[in-house]
Amino acid sequence: MTAPPRADAVARVFFALWPGAETRRQFAQWAQALRGECGGRAMRDENLHLTLVFIGNLAAGRLDALEAAAAGIACAPFLLEFERPAFWRRNRIVCAEPVAVPPALAELVAGLEAALAQAGVGFDRRPYVPHTTLLRNARRGPAEFSGASIRWQVDGFALLCSQPEAGGVRYWPLASWPGQAR
Ligand code: 2AM
Repeated sequence: MTAPPRADAVARVFFALWPGAETRRQFAQWAQALRGECGGRAMRDENLHLTLVFIGNLAAGRLDALEAAAAGIACAPFLLEFERPAFWRRNRIVCAEPVAVPPALAELVAGLEAALAQAGVGFDRRPYVPHTTLLRNARRGPAEFSGASIRWQVDGFALLCSQPEAGGVRYWPLASWPGQAR
């Protein structure tokens, strides 16, 4: 289901990995298990994702250029493994960080950044630390964690749009690109 922004609107957009139903369920289970101890607010299940490149506000009329830039990017399939949650004190999130960054993930992010730069689309250039946010406004990180590890087989990426809704925001996939074995 998608809710494309109106042609005259500004869209808040980012490239991300968008989990399938089973991986989403596992992240949601982590979030529920952590909320009692860490406090804060669990991400809505349907919004769980892993950002690749954050673009931010963009005139909706430029989305075509963005999609054209992404269409040329090769995304080799890769596996992400998550064993325990992390607490980012500075922005008070509890998140799942993969235990390692597969070369294919680093290549995907670098490819997107290069394509955006070439298309003249600005993006956030802070050092990239892949993570899936589980809780916002958390009080503390977990002391111990006994949840099952998560294995996420990634086989493509998506362009997401963030839209305000009653009670929070909702992320919608605007377009997606399948992975290609090399
Ligand atoms: P976060 O979960 O760590 O806040 C939608 O807001 C997504 O884009 C979230 O994954 C969010 O990361 C990320 N995001 C928001 N602002 C960002 C920024 N300035 N740079 C990088 N990622 C950002």
